[in-house]
Amino acid sequence: MAVSEVLREGARRLEALGVAGAGDESARLWARLIGQTVGEVWLRRDGDAAPELRERFQDAVERWAGGEPAAYATGRAGFRTMELETDRRALIPRPETEGLVEYVLEWGRRRGPASDWGAALDVGTGTGCIALSLAVEGCFGHVVATDVSEDALALARGNAALVAPPLPVEFRFGSLFEPAWGEVFDVIVANPPYVTADEFEKLDMGVRCHEPRGALVSGEDGLEHIRGLLEGAGSHLAAHGLLALEVDCTRAEAAAALARGAGWREVRLEPDVFGRLRYLLIMKESEQ
Ligand SMILES: C[S@@+](CC[C@H](N)C(=O)[O-])C[C@H]1O[C@@H](n2cnc3c(N)ncnc32)[C@H](O)[C@@H]1O
Repeated sequence: MAVSEVLREGARRLEALGVAGAGDESARLWARLIGQTVGEVWLRRDGDAAPELRERFQDAVERWAGGEPAAYATGRAGFRTMELETDRRALIPRPETEGLVEYVLEWGRRRGPASDWGAALDVGTGTGCIALSLAVEGCFGHVVATDVSEDALALARGNAALVAPPLPVEFRFGSLFEPAWGEVFDVIVANPPYVTADEFEKLDMGVRCHEPRGALVSGEDGLEHIRGLLEGAGSHLAAHGLLALEVDCTRAEAAAALARGAGWREVRLEPDVFGRLRYLLIMKESEQ
C-alpha cells in the first residue's frame, strides 16, 4: 500500500476518534515513526509502506489518540543528530536538553576542536540521549552514563547499539556518584529529576500517566538531586572542568544559590531556547 493511502487510513481513524486536524496529525505520527520530517514524508508519499510499518503505525495511531505521548506511541524520538528508541522505561528526551548538550560541546570546542576532551560523566542518563550525543558529536575519550533505573539503562544500551557503534560510552547502575567512586571527570553533566511531588500531580496527563515518576520528582523542594550533585561533584571534577546541570526555571536562582553555598565560585545561569533560565554552568577553578 502507498504511504499516501496509509496516511489517509490513519487520518480517517483519528477523525473517527474525534481528533482535530486528523490529516496533519496522521502525517506527523508517520514522520516520527520512520524518522523523517513531514516534508520528506510528503515527497515520498507515492512510495510503498511495508506491511510491518503499517501495523506499527496503526498501533501508534490508537495509542496516541488514547493519550500516550507521540514518542512512546511510535517508540521514537529525535535528539540532536540521533533517532532514539523511546518507551516508558525512561523520560522522553526534551528539546531543552539539546541545549544543555550544546553548552558542553562549546566547552569542548574551546578546549581544542581536534584534541581529546577527556572523560565525561552523565548522571541519570535515561534514554542515553546526553551521553550518546557527547560521544557522537564531541571528542571525549570516555563517557560514563549512570542511572538508578535498570530499565532505563537497558533502553540506553539499546540506543548506544542503534546510534553508531562503537562509541566510547559505558553504562553503570547506581545513585549519583556511587558508580564513579574515586574517578575524576573533565565534564559532569546531568538533567536530574527536578519537580516536587505536588508539581508532579499537576503535570499534563501525558507526562503524569506515562513517564516514570522517578525521572521527574526530586524530594520535598524539587532540589534534592541538584543538592546531591553540587555537593558530590567537587571530588569528581577535574580542575577547569565543567559541571553542567539542567534545572527547573522556577528554581534556577535557588539552584545557583545552592551552588555558591556548596563552595562553587564560577557559577552562571543561561537561558534555554524559550528564554527561561534553565542551565546551571559551573567551572571548577584550579585551586578549588
Ligand atoms: C529527568 S530524567 C533525564 C533523563 C535523560 N538524561 C534526559 O535528559 O532525557 C532523570 C534521570 O535520572 C535518573 N535518576 C533518578 N534518581 C537518580 C539518582 N539518585 N542517581 C542517578 N540517576 C537518577 C532517573 O531514573 C532518570 O532516568
